[in-house]
Amino acid sequence: MAGKVIIMEHPLITHKINYIRQEHVGTKEFREMIGEIAQLMCYEATRDLKMQEVTIKTPIAEMKGNMLAGKKLAIVPILRAGIGMVDGMLSLIPTAKVGHIGLYRDPVTLEPVEYYCKLPADCEEREVFVVDPMLATGGSSVAAIRMLKEKGVKNIRFLCVLAAPEGVSRMQKEHPDVDVYIGALDEKLNDHGYIVPGLGDAGDRIFGTK
Ligand code: PRP
Ligand code: URA
Repeated sequence: MAGKVIIMEHPLITHKINYIRQEHVGTKEFREMIGEIAQLMCYEATRDLKMQEVTIKTPIAEMKGNMLAGKKLAIVPILRAGIGMVDGMLSLIPTAKVGHIGLYRDPVTLEPVEYYCKLPADCEEREVFVVDPMLATGGSSVAAIRMLKEKGVKNIRFLCVLAAPEGVSRMQKEHPDVDVYIGALDEKLNDHGYIVPGLGDAGDRIFGTK
């Protein structure tokens, strides 16, 4: 069975994504808003984290209530653009460890090229949130998740701000066990593998390069 594909339907997320699509939006604003979108998406993507019942002693009385079951979490951005989503995620799950996977897309073949991988030592025991603003052909995120599985990671979710249908299908085919959280699903890819209408090159817009 294919993993769940959850497309965000929240006015704040939709507004912020459509705002940063605009070509006049500069680096500072773009970076800040990618962080805010990641924070809102993190809220949605953690809805089903396991809870456990605990005893709580308030200043007034004792009660039973649910708290997080203490499952270990990790955030793994795909470099570079994924870095823009990390702080927003950490603002809600501050005890998560952070790993990094470096991949860039060869501009001619569009195939991902690996250049870095540093993960928490116990990452195979953790529930891992892979983050990258863009799911275009799917090459980069599919490869990153494959790298995590090769290290023994079993529980993986993927969060992206924008996705193309081609990338979603590829992810579902290659990693049917991974739930995919999408800020907005766009129409298609162009001949250069860019998402249409998209927002351009996410890494360049976050870091002000180019
Ligand atoms: C972008 C983006 C994704 C990838 C998506 O990274 O951040 O990682 O492209 O495309 P895909 O789904 O077709 O693989 P890029 O290779 O431009 O590197 P950067 O983040 O360093 O700019
Ligand atoms: N990577 C980007 O940064 N933007 C796209 O539209 C596709 C891949």
